[in-house]
Amino acid sequence: MAKKKLVVFTGAGISAESGIKTFRDSGGLWEEYKIEDVATPSAWKKDPTLVTQFYNLRRKQVMEAKPNAAHYFFAELQNTYDVLIITQNIDDLHERAGSKNVLHLHGEIMKVRSTLNENLIYDLKKWEVKMGDKCEKGSQLRPHIVWFGEMVPNMDKAVTMVQEAEIFVTVGTSLNVYPAAGLVEIPGPDVPKYILDPGTFDLKHIANLTHIREKAGDGVKQLGSFLVA
Ligand code: APR
Repeated sequence: MAKKKLVVFTGAGISAESGIKTFRDSGGLWEEYKIEDVATPSAWKKDPTLVTQFYNLRRKQVMEAKPNAAHYFFAELQNTYDVLIITQNIDDLHERAGSKNVLHLHGEIMKVRSTLNENLIYDLKKWEVKMGDKCEKGSQLRPHIVWFGEMVPNMDKAVTMVQEAEIFVTVGTSLNVYPAAGLVEIPGPDVPKYILDPGTFDLKHIANLTHIREKAGDGVKQLGSFLVA
């Protein structure tokens, strides 16, 4: 029998227990930095060195971090479900835990790309990118990140994946950033939906939704009991 399609939509909260800061919690990254200084096309235009340094730090932290119980839970779930992960995270912790189908909506920190041709994308093995590091055509490399104000190239693919979901799980996102946050509105009323996050949400209008109000590591245990039931 074909495995059921389980789509998991993740945000910064799933990587919090790996030691990577979220953005909007107290002590989050956007308290330390201003979005407009480091995560927009005009920030890059104004001060590419600062932007490069900001993402170098993010990359160093990601390389030092390890997947946690929640990342491993969804990797293991591939044995019983056809698991598709849509993540807003730029880290590679889902992949390192063993998840095979991971779609990144907001880019990937372990990649850089040409500022001349967006299709020239390179894998990084080290954390530091320097000003003067160039693509094969001779233009400066920039982080392979979707900045505020930029299009989300993988959005259409994500919408199709969610439309086909037979079970839909959201983990660790404040649902503040669009268009990604709109994905939770897509699955129909018959699709069982779970949101795993210690925060509060006003999602009463969404049918068939269970809120597991826990941190990801503990919450996946509860989620597991729902999924085998
Ligand atoms: N386990 C699960 N969820 C957690 C945990 C945890 N241990 N700790 C915090 N959370 C939850 C918070 O309750 C919150 O709902 O994670 C969420 C983090 O929200 P944000 O910081 O807003 O992160 P996210 O939703 O991923 O942000 C979306 O904003 O700045 C951008 O591009 C960036 O992709 C990011 C996007």
